[in-house]
Amino acid sequence: MRVLVAGSEGMLARDMVPCLEQKDHEVIAPAESALDILSLSTLKTSLDSIRPDVIVNCAAYTNVDGAEREEHKACLVNGLGVQNLCLACQAAGIPLVHFSTDYIFDGQKVGAYSVFDSTCPINAYGRSKLLGEKYVLWLLRKFYLIRTSWLFGLQGRNFVETMLGLGRKQKQVSVVSDQRGCPTWTHSLAGAVAELIESGCYGVYNGTNSGATTWYDFAVEIFRTAGMEMEVMPITTDQYPTPARRPANSVLDPFPLNEVLGRAMPPWKEALAEYLRLRKEMGSK
Ligand SMILES: NC(=O)c1ccc[n+]([C@@H]2O[C@H](COP(=O)([O-])OP(=O)(O)OC[C@H]3O[C@@H](n4cnc5c(N)ncnc54)[C@H](OP(=O)(O)O)[C@@H]3O)[C@@H](O)[C@H]2O)c1
Repeated sequence: MRVLVAGSEGMLARDMVPCLEQKDHEVIAPAESALDILSLSTLKTSLDSIRPDVIVNCAAYTNVDGAEREEHKACLVNGLGVQNLCLACQAAGIPLVHFSTDYIFDGQKVGAYSVFDSTCPINAYGRSKLLGEKYVLWLLRKFYLIRTSWLFGLQGRNFVETMLGLGRKQKQVSVVSDQRGCPTWTHSLAGAVAELIESGCYGVYNGTNSGATTWYDFAVEIFRTAGMEMEVMPITTDQYPTPARRPANSVLDPFPLNEVLGRAMPPWKEALAEYLRLRKEMGSK
Protein backbone atom coordinates (compact mmCIF):
# COMPACT_ATOMS: atom_id res chain seq x y z
CA MET A 1 0.00 0.00 0.00
CA ARG A 2 1.03 3.60 -0.49
CA VAL A 3 1.17 5.08 3.01
CA LEU A 4 1.42 8.75 3.96
CA VAL A 5 2.85 9.25 7.47
CA ALA A 6 2.06 12.50 9.30
CA GLY A 7 4.22 13.66 12.21
CA SER A 8 7.28 12.02 10.67
CA GLU A 9 9.78 13.36 13.23
CA GLY A 10 8.07 11.91 16.31
CA MET A 11 9.13 8.86 18.31
CA LEU A 12 6.48 6.49 16.95
CA ALA A 13 6.86 7.71 13.38
CA ARG A 14 10.58 6.97 13.38
CA ASP A 15 9.82 3.28 13.94
CA MET A 16 6.66 3.36 11.84
CA VAL A 17 8.42 4.28 8.59
CA PRO A 18 10.98 1.40 8.56
CA CYS A 19 8.40 -1.12 9.85
CA LEU A 20 5.98 -0.21 7.05
CA GLU A 21 8.78 -0.43 4.50
CA GLN A 22 9.82 -3.86 5.82
CA LYS A 23 6.28 -5.07 5.09
CA ASP A 24 6.67 -3.79 1.51
CA HIS A 25 4.52 -0.71 1.89
CA GLU A 26 5.55 2.36 -0.07
CA VAL A 27 6.01 5.13 2.48
CA ILE A 28 5.89 8.87 2.01
CA ALA A 29 6.83 10.73 5.20
CA PRO A 30 7.16 14.47 4.54
CA ALA A 31 8.90 16.70 7.06
CA GLU A 32 6.46 18.11 9.60
CA SER A 33 6.97 21.61 8.16
CA ALA A 34 5.71 20.28 4.81
CA LEU A 35 2.71 18.45 6.26
CA ASP A 36 1.19 20.53 9.04
CA ILE A 37 -1.98 18.78 10.18
CA LEU A 38 -3.37 22.15 11.28
CA SER A 39 -3.65 23.17 7.62
CA LEU A 40 -6.56 21.48 5.86
CA SER A 41 -5.58 23.00 2.51
CA THR A 42 -2.01 21.62 2.81
CA LEU A 43 -3.40 18.20 3.68
CA LYS A 44 -5.81 18.20 0.74
CA THR A 45 -3.12 19.39 -1.71
CA SER A 46 -0.73 16.70 -0.41
CA LEU A 47 -3.34 14.00 -0.85
CA ASP A 48 -4.09 15.20 -4.38
CA SER A 49 -0.44 14.95 -5.37
CA ILE A 50 0.68 11.92 -3.32
CA ARG A 51 -2.51 9.87 -3.73
CA PRO A 52 -1.91 7.54 -0.77
CA ASP A 53 -4.04 4.48 0.02
CA VAL A 54 -4.01 5.31 3.73
CA ILE A 55 -2.75 7.99 6.15
CA VAL A 56 -0.99 6.99 9.37
CA ASN A 57 -1.18 9.91 11.78
CA CYS A 58 1.76 10.00 14.20
CA ALA A 59 1.45 13.77 14.71
CA ALA A 60 0.28 14.88 18.14
CA TYR A 61 0.78 17.18 21.08
CA THR A 62 2.16 14.74 23.67
CA ASN A 63 3.40 16.84 26.60
CA VAL A 64 1.04 15.51 29.30
CA ASP A 65 2.03 18.04 31.98
CA GLY A 66 2.42 20.91 29.50
CA ALA A 67 -1.17 20.40 28.34
CA GLU A 68 -2.40 21.53 31.76
CA ARG A 69 -1.20 25.08 31.02
CA GLU A 70 -1.77 25.02 27.25
CA GLU A 71 -4.92 22.94 26.82
CA HIS A 72 -6.02 25.07 23.87
CA LYS A 73 -2.83 24.20 21.96
CA ALA A 74 -3.24 20.51 22.83
CA CYS A 75 -6.85 20.59 21.59
CA LEU A 76 -5.80 22.34 18.38
CA VAL A 77 -3.31 19.60 17.45
CA ASN A 78 -4.99 16.57 19.02
CA GLY A 79 -8.53 17.69 18.19
CA LEU A 80 -8.76 20.04 15.22
CA GLY A 81 -5.63 18.60 13.56
CA VAL A 82 -7.34 15.22 13.61
CA GLN A 83 -10.56 16.77 12.31
CA ASN A 84 -8.53 18.09 9.33
CA LEU A 85 -7.04 14.65 8.71
CA CYS A 86 -10.52 13.12 8.84
CA LEU A 87 -11.89 15.65 6.34
CA ALA A 88 -8.96 15.09 3.99
CA CYS A 89 -9.37 11.30 4.23
CA GLN A 90 -13.12 11.65 3.71
CA ALA A 91 -12.57 13.73 0.56
CA ALA A 92 -10.03 11.23 -0.79
CA GLY A 93 -12.07 8.20 0.28
CA ILE A 94 -9.16 6.63 2.14
CA PRO A 95 -8.81 5.28 5.70
CA LEU A 96 -7.02 6.99 8.58
CA VAL A 97 -4.86 5.28 11.19
CA HIS A 98 -4.94 7.38 14.33
CA PHE A 99 -3.38 6.84 17.76
CA SER A 100 -5.08 7.60 21.02
CA THR A 101 -4.12 7.01 24.62
CA ASP A 102 -4.87 5.13 27.82
CA TYR A 103 -5.23 8.59 29.42
CA ILE A 104 -8.79 8.90 28.08
CA PHE A 105 -9.76 6.73 31.10
CA ASP A 106 -10.02 7.83 34.74
CA GLY A 107 -8.20 4.76 36.07
CA GLN A 108 -10.90 3.75 38.53
CA LYS A 109 -11.76 0.44 36.86
CA VAL A 110 -10.63 -2.81 38.46
CA GLY A 111 -9.12 -4.79 35.61
CA ALA A 112 -8.16 -3.93 32.05
CA TYR A 113 -10.01 -1.32 29.98
CA SER A 114 -11.72 -2.79 26.94
CA VAL A 115 -12.77 -0.96 23.78
CA PHE A 116 -16.35 -1.00 25.17
CA ASP A 117 -15.54 0.97 28.33
CA SER A 118 -16.72 4.55 28.79
CA THR A 119 -14.09 7.25 28.59
CA CYS A 120 -13.56 9.86 31.30
CA PRO A 121 -10.21 11.69 31.06
CA ILE A 122 -8.82 13.28 34.22
CA ASN A 123 -6.27 15.58 32.58
CA ALA A 124 -6.10 18.10 29.73
CA TYR A 125 -4.02 15.85 27.47
CA GLY A 126 -6.61 13.07 27.84
CA ARG A 127 -9.43 15.51 27.03
CA SER A 128 -7.61 16.71 23.91
CA LYS A 129 -6.99 13.14 22.73
CA LEU A 130 -10.63 12.24 23.38
CA LEU A 131 -11.68 15.16 21.16
CA GLY A 132 -9.53 13.67 18.38
CA GLU A 133 -11.19 10.27 18.88
CA LYS A 134 -14.60 11.90 18.59
CA TYR A 135 -13.77 13.51 15.26
CA VAL A 136 -12.62 10.13 13.93
CA LEU A 137 -15.87 8.50 15.09
CA TRP A 138 -18.07 11.41 13.92
CA LEU A 139 -16.52 11.88 10.50
CA LEU A 140 -15.12 8.60 9.21
CA ARG A 141 -16.38 5.15 8.32
CA LYS A 142 -12.93 3.83 7.41
CA PHE A 143 -10.53 4.19 10.32
CA TYR A 144 -8.23 2.29 12.64
CA LEU A 145 -8.33 4.10 15.97
CA ILE A 146 -5.59 2.58 18.11
CA ARG A 147 -5.26 3.37 21.80
CA THR A 148 -1.77 2.78 23.07
CA SER A 149 0.20 3.49 26.25
CA TRP A 150 3.56 4.03 27.94
CA LEU A 151 5.49 4.21 24.62
CA PHE A 152 9.26 3.83 24.41
CA GLY A 153 11.25 4.09 21.19
CA LEU A 154 14.81 4.54 20.05
CA GLN A 155 14.40 8.13 18.97
CA GLY A 156 12.36 9.95 21.53
CA ARG A 157 12.05 11.04 25.13
CA ASN A 158 10.54 8.25 27.18
CA PHE A 159 10.58 6.54 30.58
CA VAL A 160 13.24 3.97 29.63
CA GLU A 161 15.66 6.67 28.49
CA THR A 162 14.90 8.76 31.59
CA MET A 163 15.71 5.79 33.86
CA LEU A 164 18.91 4.93 31.97
CA GLY A 165 19.97 8.58 32.18
CA LEU A 166 19.40 8.61 35.95
CA GLY A 167 21.26 5.29 36.21
CA ARG A 168 24.38 6.97 34.86
CA LYS A 169 24.19 9.77 37.44
CA GLN A 170 22.92 8.25 40.69
CA LYS A 171 22.63 5.03 42.64
CA GLN A 172 19.09 5.44 43.94
CA VAL A 173 15.81 6.48 42.39
CA SER A 174 12.22 6.76 43.65
CA VAL A 175 9.51 5.57 41.28
CA VAL A 176 5.71 5.59 41.56
CA SER A 177 4.38 2.12 42.37
CA ASP A 178 0.61 2.73 42.41
CA GLN A 179 0.01 3.39 38.70
CA ARG A 180 -0.47 0.35 36.44
CA GLY A 181 -0.26 0.27 32.66
CA CYS A 182 1.14 -1.49 29.60
CA PRO A 183 4.63 -0.48 28.44
CA THR A 184 4.80 -0.52 24.65
CA TRP A 185 7.77 -0.50 22.30
CA THR A 186 7.07 1.68 19.26
CA HIS A 187 8.61 -1.01 17.04
CA SER A 188 6.02 -3.59 18.25
CA LEU A 189 3.16 -1.14 17.67
CA ALA A 190 4.45 -0.17 14.23
CA GLY A 191 4.71 -3.86 13.25
CA ALA A 192 1.07 -4.38 14.25
CA VAL A 193 -0.02 -1.31 12.24
CA ALA A 194 1.83 -2.52 9.14
CA GLU A 195 -0.32 -5.69 9.28
CA LEU A 196 -3.57 -4.10 10.46
CA ILE A 197 -3.81 -1.70 7.50
CA GLU A 198 -3.99 -4.69 5.15
CA SER A 199 -6.98 -6.15 7.02
CA GLY A 200 -9.76 -3.68 6.18
CA CYS A 201 -11.07 -4.43 9.69
CA TYR A 202 -11.87 -0.86 10.63
CA GLY A 203 -12.65 0.09 14.21
CA VAL A 204 -11.30 0.87 17.67
CA TYR A 205 -8.33 -1.08 18.99
CA ASN A 206 -6.08 -1.27 22.03
CA GLY A 207 -2.49 -1.69 20.83
CA THR A 208 0.14 -2.35 23.49
CA ASN A 209 2.80 -4.91 24.30
CA SER A 210 1.35 -7.86 26.23
CA GLY A 211 1.19 -7.80 30.01
CA ALA A 212 0.97 -4.97 32.52
CA THR A 213 3.11 -3.53 35.27
CA THR A 214 3.68 -0.49 37.49
CA TRP A 215 6.20 2.29 36.77
CA TYR A 216 8.17 0.94 39.76
CA ASP A 217 8.39 -2.64 38.42
CA PHE A 218 9.08 -1.29 34.95
CA ALA A 219 12.05 0.67 36.35
CA VAL A 220 13.36 -2.38 38.24
CA GLU A 221 13.19 -4.42 35.01
CA ILE A 222 14.96 -1.69 33.01
CA PHE A 223 17.95 -1.60 35.39
CA ARG A 224 18.02 -5.41 35.72
CA THR A 225 17.99 -5.97 31.95
CA ALA A 226 20.49 -3.18 31.30
CA GLY A 227 22.80 -4.66 33.95
CA MET A 228 22.89 -1.40 35.93
CA GLU A 229 23.11 -1.31 39.69
CA MET A 230 20.38 0.90 41.07
CA GLU A 231 18.30 0.95 44.21
CA VAL A 232 14.70 1.57 43.15
CA MET A 233 12.47 2.90 45.94
CA PRO A 234 8.66 2.57 45.58
CA ILE A 235 6.69 5.76 46.24
CA THR A 236 3.03 6.71 45.90
CA THR A 237 1.56 9.12 43.37
CA ASP A 238 0.91 11.56 46.24
CA GLN A 239 4.65 11.62 46.96
CA TYR A 240 5.42 12.57 43.33
CA PRO A 241 3.12 15.48 42.46
CA THR A 242 2.88 16.45 38.78
CA PRO A 243 0.81 19.18 37.07
CA ALA A 244 -1.36 16.54 35.34
CA ARG A 245 -3.17 13.81 37.24
CA ARG A 246 -2.56 10.29 35.92
CA PRO A 247 -4.99 7.35 36.03
CA ALA A 248 -4.07 4.75 38.68
CA ASN A 249 -5.00 1.93 36.32
CA SER A 250 -4.73 2.29 32.57
CA VAL A 251 -4.14 -1.32 31.57
CA LEU A 252 -5.64 -1.96 28.11
CA ASP A 253 -7.28 -5.23 27.06
CA PRO A 254 -5.90 -6.43 23.70
CA PHE A 255 -9.32 -7.48 22.29
CA PRO A 256 -9.91 -7.33 19.31
CA LEU A 257 -6.39 -6.63 17.99
CA ASN A 258 -5.09 -10.13 18.78
CA GLU A 259 -8.06 -11.72 17.01
CA VAL A 260 -7.66 -9.58 13.88
CA LEU A 261 -3.87 -10.03 13.66
CA GLY A 262 -4.03 -13.71 14.68
CA ARG A 263 -1.27 -13.10 17.21
CA ALA A 264 -0.56 -11.23 20.42
CA MET A 265 1.89 -8.35 20.59
CA PRO A 266 5.16 -9.46 22.27
CA PRO A 267 5.31 -9.38 26.10
CA TRP A 268 6.61 -6.02 27.31
CA LYS A 269 9.67 -7.58 29.03
CA GLU A 270 10.74 -9.20 25.74
CA ALA A 271 10.17 -5.94 23.89
CA LEU A 272 12.22 -4.05 26.48
CA ALA A 273 15.10 -6.55 26.27
CA GLU A 274 15.17 -6.27 22.47
CA TYR A 275 15.00 -2.47 22.69
CA LEU A 276 17.97 -2.37 25.11
CA ARG A 277 19.93 -4.79 22.92
CA LEU A 278 19.32 -2.67 19.82
CA ARG A 279 20.22 0.64 21.46
CA LYS A 280 23.46 -0.92 22.75
CA GLU A 281 24.23 -2.18 19.24
CA MET A 282 23.65 1.35 17.96
CA GLY A 283 26.13 2.67 20.49
CA SER A 284 23.69 4.63 22.68
CA LYS A 285 25.12 5.42 26.10
N1 LIG B 1 4.42 8.69 24.10
C1 LIG B 1 3.54 7.96 24.77
O1 LIG B 1 3.84 7.39 25.84
C2 LIG B 1 2.14 7.77 24.24
C3 LIG B 1 1.21 7.07 25.02
C4 LIG B 1 -0.08 6.90 24.52
C5 LIG B 1 -0.43 7.40 23.28
N2 LIG B 1 0.50 8.08 22.55
C6 LIG B 1 0.09 8.60 21.24
O2 LIG B 1 0.91 8.00 20.25
C7 LIG B 1 1.12 8.92 19.16
C8 LIG B 1 2.61 9.08 18.89
O3 LIG B 1 3.24 9.60 20.07
P1 LIG B 1 4.80 9.93 20.12
O4 LIG B 1 5.25 9.57 21.49
O5 LIG B 1 5.50 9.38 18.93
O6 LIG B 1 4.74 11.53 20.04
P2 LIG B 1 5.91 12.56 19.69
O7 LIG B 1 7.24 11.91 19.77
O8 LIG B 1 5.64 13.77 20.52
O9 LIG B 1 5.63 12.88 18.16
C9 LIG B 1 4.57 13.68 17.73
C10 LIG B 1 5.11 14.50 16.59
O10 LIG B 1 4.02 15.27 16.04
C11 LIG B 1 4.58 16.54 15.72
N3 LIG B 1 3.55 17.56 15.53
C12 LIG B 1 3.01 18.39 16.47
N4 LIG B 1 2.14 19.22 15.89
C13 LIG B 1 2.11 18.92 14.55
C14 LIG B 1 1.43 19.45 13.44
N5 LIG B 1 0.56 20.47 13.56
N6 LIG B 1 1.65 18.89 12.21
C15 LIG B 1 2.53 17.89 12.06
N7 LIG B 1 3.23 17.36 13.08
C16 LIG B 1 3.03 17.87 14.33
C17 LIG B 1 5.51 16.84 16.87
O11 LIG B 1 6.40 17.87 16.54
P3 LIG B 1 6.97 18.83 17.71
O12 LIG B 1 7.74 17.95 18.62
O13 LIG B 1 7.77 19.81 16.93
O14 LIG B 1 5.75 19.42 18.37
C18 LIG B 1 6.20 15.49 17.04
O15 LIG B 1 7.33 15.36 16.21
C19 LIG B 1 0.41 10.21 19.58
O16 LIG B 1 -0.88 10.22 19.01
C20 LIG B 1 0.30 10.09 21.08
O17 LIG B 1 -0.79 10.83 21.60
C21 LIG B 1 1.77 8.28 23.00
